[in-house]
This record gives sequence, C-alpha cells and structure tokens, in this order.
Amino acid sequence: MTTKISILEILEKNRNQIISGEDIATELNVSRTSVWKAVKDLQAEGYSIEAGTNKGYMLTNSKDVIFVEGIKTFLKNKRSASKISVFKTLESTNQTAKKITIDGVANGTVIIANEQTSGRGRRGRKFYSPADSGIYMSIILRPEMTAQNATLITTAAAVAVCRAIEAATGIFAGIKWVNDIFVEGKKVCGILTESVTDMESGSMEYVIVGIGINFSTKTANFPKDIKNTAGSLFKNKKEIPVMRNRLAAEIINEMTALTKNIFDKKIIEEYRKHSIVISKKIDVIQGDKIRHAKAINIDDAGGLVVKYDSGKVETLTTGEISIRVKV
Ligand code: BTN
Repeated sequence: MTTKISILEILEKNRNQIISGEDIATELNVSRTSVWKAVKDLQAEGYSIEAGTNKGYMLTNSKDVIFVEGIKTFLKNKRSASKISVFKTLESTNQTAKKITIDGVANGTVIIANEQTSGRGRRGRKFYSPADSGIYMSIILRPEMTAQNATLITTAAAVAVCRAIEAATGIFAGIKWVNDIFVEGKKVCGILTESVTDMESGSMEYVIVGIGINFSTKTANFPKDIKNTAGSLFKNKKEIPVMRNRLAAEIINEMTALTKNIFDKKIIEEYRKHSIVISKKIDVIQGDKIRHAKAINIDDAGGLVVKYDSGKVETLTTGEISIRVKV
C-alpha cells in the first residue's frame, strides 16, 4: 500500500477530526515531510483535506469524493475492498467490467466511476451519468446457476439497492418492475444486468450487475427527455447528510449477502413489499404495441403477473417488455 493510500485510510477513519502529522508519520513509519507531500498530492487530486500549521490534517465532508478507502470504512468484509476499483471517468462501468472478464476476475469484483461518458441503460438507451453527483458501479458475479435463473440476480439487485438506500439515507424506495428504483414518484436508480457466456460451452460465466444512482443531481440538470421522470436522492438538499462512499459500500454489503442465498424466497417477498406496481393499472409496452392491464403480482421467479382488460392473465418475463404505471 502506498503512503498516500495509507494516509487516506487513516484520515477516513478519523473523518472530521484533526489528526497530527506526527501521529500519522509514526503510525506509518515515514517522515513528517513525506506525510505533508502525500497530503498535498491528495489535495491536488480533489480530496477535501484541511491542513493547519502545527495542528494536523482533517478529511472533511465538504467534497464528496468516491474512493476505495472511503468505501472500505463501511464495508462489512474489509478484505473485499481489494476487489474494488474506482475511476474518475469511464465510458461505461459495465463495458469495463465486461472487458476484464476476458482475463478472468474474482466473484465480487467491483468497478466504480465518478462519471460515465457513455453510460448504458436497458433496451439500448443511454444512462445520464454526470460527474460528482451519482454512483455508477458494476458488480461482477460468478454465480453457479443457469441463465434461466439469472433474473433472480436482477431481483436481488433491486432489493439490495432498496436496503442500501434505506440503511444509508433512511429513505424507503420503491421498485418499478423490473428494476427501476423510485423515490417520490421519480426514477432515482436504474439497473442493467448483463451476462457473459462462454462461447464454447454456452454456459453463463459471469453476470455483470450495473447500478446507476442519481445521488445529488439537481432536477434542472437532467436532460430534457428525462427531466419529468428522473429524480435523485438528494436533489434539492444544500447539505447532504451522507457520502456516496457509504451508499456504495452498503450496496456491496447487501449484494454480497443476498447473492449468497439467491434462492431464498424472502428476497422476492421483500421485492413485493417495495413494488410500486402491484395492484396498479399499467400499460404493457412491447415495440409499438400498447396493451392496458392491471398488475396482479410478482411471481416467485420475478415475473410480473398481469391481467389484460380482455380478462386474459399473463406472466411477463422478458426484458423486451416495459410497463408504464398509471396513477
Ligand atoms: C436503466 O435504467 O435502463 C439501467 C441503467 C443502468 C446504468 C448503470 S450505471 C453503471 C452501469 N454502467 C452502465 O453503463 N450502465 C450501468
């Protein structure tokens, strides 16, 4: 571990508290000058570290920078921090995640970006991913299951995000089938699950769960086409009570816990509790075709059971279908 990273870890553990340069130097067995130089570098990289002559150093909340040591503080399993990589800008974390699976990666590898220049959404859409105000992350899983059961991972991911949002912010989020996360009627998070299949055996090698959260994006900043539908967790708050690192860590904690017991029926029960679709009138949209229906339930495999106005009951499972919930 470099001196810079070790210092960051110490400062993060003592966030908002002054810690003397001498204490840091002693703990790391380096000179005070090395500490000072490393802090200067960290400040230049954007970390909000206050430095006072003869006082010491303090990591403050004035800038919300996402970094591995910051996430690690909130991880249940600290060792899993070694599987997290944080980037300033990527085209798409899912794309990077896919690329690295070619050489083989460990289950639970996480790619996070502070900004995406080509964030990808479902059905070929874009995901608006501006710098500093969102969390864009991809979790690479090596699940031992068939491709048919992969929808359970999508379901689990939506539950994990809801749990994490509640743990970090106290907000109870809703799930719009399949896996859009809503707060106060606006979409604050989208999840794109993609699988990587072995060409020879045809077996599913990896599942990449891409999660994009609008954390503090201002309503006015969303592009025109999503302005009315998109929201963010802290859209109009001047003082944001929680750092993005905390929420990212909670998502990793919850995903780790849920994917260990992916066949547990309690996950789907929890999904139903968060559903903002069950018992609502909806439009089922497939290509140009729109059918009016009522959402009846979510079945144990994560499918949406709907009853059309004609009286016909159907279970929707494909990602090619989208729904519009009516109020
Ligand atoms: C959707 O709402 O259609 C899904 C959006 C998924 C966005 C996330 S952001 C992190 C990951 N990388 C991507 O390019 N997309 C997913």
